[in-house]
Amino acid sequence: MKALVLAGGKGTRLRPLTHTMPKQLVPVANEPILGYVFHHIQDAGIKEVGVVVSPETGNDVRRFLGRGSRWQMRITYIPQQQPLGLAHAVKIARPFLGNSPFVMYLGDNLLAQGIKEFMEEFHSTTLDALIFLKEVDNPQAFGVAVLNKKGQIIKLVEKPKDPPSNLALVGVYFFSASIHEAIDRISPSARGELEITDAIQELMRSGGSVSGQILDDWWLDTGKKDDFLAANTVVLDDYIKRDVQGKVDIKSKVSGRVQIEKTARIVNSSLRGPVVIGKRCKIVNSFIGPYTTIGHGTRIINSAIEHSVILDKCYIENIARLDDSLIGREARVIHYDKNHSRALRLLIGDNNVVEV
Ligand code: TTP
Repeated sequence: MKALVLAGGKGTRLRPLTHTMPKQLVPVANEPILGYVFHHIQDAGIKEVGVVVSPETGNDVRRFLGRGSRWQMRITYIPQQQPLGLAHAVKIARPFLGNSPFVMYLGDNLLAQGIKEFMEEFHSTTLDALIFLKEVDNPQAFGVAVLNKKGQIIKLVEKPKDPPSNLALVGVYFFSASIHEAIDRISPSARGELEITDAIQELMRSGGSVSGQILDDWWLDTGKKDDFLAANTVVLDDYIKRDVQGKVDIKSKVSGRVQIEKTARIVNSSLRGPVVIGKRCKIVNSFIGPYTTIGHGTRIINSAIEHSVILDKCYIENIARLDDSLIGREARVIHYDKNHSRALRLLIGDNNVVEV
């Protein structure tokens, strides 16, 4: 079994942030989405991974993944000059994939429970494709499946204007080598892409066995349906274990699932999990409440923060309460009066200075 990770496409502006980055490297709980994807592939025991990269963001992706030794894998990079579709990515990866069955994992997606059990299930059958479905509010943005009464797939449509169902295709697919012949038989869609939905549809038409499973756990798609705060909430809920490595003074209290990096310092503060505190952070006279991620090198003084994502190298001082907020890199949020400010809900881009 091999894995094919799609990490191509253009850089994304993470509104309201000015910082442009590959969507696969968006940090959730201080770890890029792609890091979790690789962890899932490692957990399934797969050693050979092809990574599709684009000219625009390929270098950033390579810098993060390296040769794959962090996950004990061998990575083969597969450059794709233009994002000509998910099936196009499979087509150019064919020399790497050979006749091996494989899992295709979109690099900006995340399945709650990983892929190990699904891989074992795929192995125990003679399926040509195993795909996953999940109900969404905006099926127009996805490949959508229509099932019959027995739950079998009868049709797949890409980004339908008038969706025949609200079951979206999730960004993880298991394929046997027969997907390649199906891809050879399809043509680009109206938007000029080789669609994986068309390839799967063609696989079914030519007698291949395809099964669709409706997921009952969460699925993140940071490229399309989940923003920073939503992704932060589910990842903190499910993945974060208590791991306090940084320096916590005796006046501080750390309760619940709190992860503090070795080089962080907590002084006279209270932290209530799930919370992630990055490297070189300093938290002084503050409360950091549930569902909060504090990026690397950020300083929080005399403030209370809950349900928020504060990115790297920020400075926050004298803010009585900051809720449901997203603060961009190197932003400063300051209230100069020693008496605390009122409660705030902020969306602040990178490098901004806000005095409240
Ligand atoms: P998306 O760009 O979300 O692909 P899409 O065709 O489903 O939707 P959209 O309308 O937004 O274009 O890409 C999903 C992931 O796959 C993302 O991590 C980028 C990657 N990708 C490639 O590597 N090569 C490609 O040709 C495409 C289309 C996507």
